[in-house]
Amino acid sequence: MELYKTIRDVSSRITTLKKDGQIIGFVPTMGALHEGHISLIRLAREENNVVACSIFVNPIQFNNPEDLKKYPRTLEKDIDMLKQAGCDIVFAPEPDEMYPEPVIHEYDFGMLDKVMEGKFRSGHFNGVAIVVKKLLDIITPDNAYFGEKDFQQLAIIRKLVELESIPVNIIACPTVREPDGLAMSSRNVRLTESQRKTAPVIYRILKELKAKYSEENSEHLIEQAIKHLNQQPEMRVEYLEIVDSGSLQPLEYFNPMIPARACIAVFLGDVRLIDNISLNL
Ligand code: PAJ
Repeated sequence: MELYKTIRDVSSRITTLKKDGQIIGFVPTMGALHEGHISLIRLAREENNVVACSIFVNPIQFNNPEDLKKYPRTLEKDIDMLKQAGCDIVFAPEPDEMYPEPVIHEYDFGMLDKVMEGKFRSGHFNGVAIVVKKLLDIITPDNAYFGEKDFQQLAIIRKLVELESIPVNIIACPTVREPDGLAMSSRNVRLTESQRKTAPVIYRILKELKAKYSEENSEHLIEQAIKHLNQQPEMRVEYLEIVDSGSLQPLEYFNPMIPARACIAVFLGDVRLIDNISLNL
């Protein structure tokens, strides 16, 4: 596996590989890798000749400076995991390499970034879009892999690719969970032992909501679910929404013709966790 720190070096390697006709699969990450990330690498491994992964804790997508400071950084371990999973190229730049100057571009994603994460994390998706655009320009992959764990991010990235006419296939990958149902996340390591025991309730409630979705109206379901979750120790729901999977706009009633998703963000102590579930059978 090859490790690159500069745009110049990784670009020149990619140019050579492309001249050789290699198909490139790309998995952008912020490191602190777990099985969720590795599932993306494995899928990319199956579908491409060359697999590239970026590790970059992107400062401009953090709306909370504490969250950026506390974001786990485990580069050595990440590199070992990527080697084992059959990754070929790791691009791990420093912030100055990616942002030699401040970036001021503002994307217009219409209503997609006005809801859920976008509502509570101002500027977050603009920061995600800026870095993903840069990374796609540098790596120029044929296929890029993103997790459904970050469902709204996936929608934003599809929109970005459309707005910027980027010639890449965006591949959505299912959420990988711990055996007790908790969605894997780099932030899970920050949970205390007791918070970790409470955390699986998030997915349990999403599954219950899915089971009842065709019978009850959304507002009532959401109200009940939030009440239950807020009764858990140290847990506070930031939002729970039932949305149209395409437009991400709220859905009031079940309609078998419209793909729907329940999306949630909760604080467990000071750790913010997100999850989502498809509500279609
Ligand atoms: P990060 O949180 O490191 O996630 C990298 C990729 O792994 C994302 O596509 C995310 O959806 C996926 N992922 C995370 N947990 C997962 C899980 N449990 N199952 C399946 N996939 C999972 O998302 C980002 O980084 C950043 O915003 C990034 C796109 C790299 C831009 O900075």
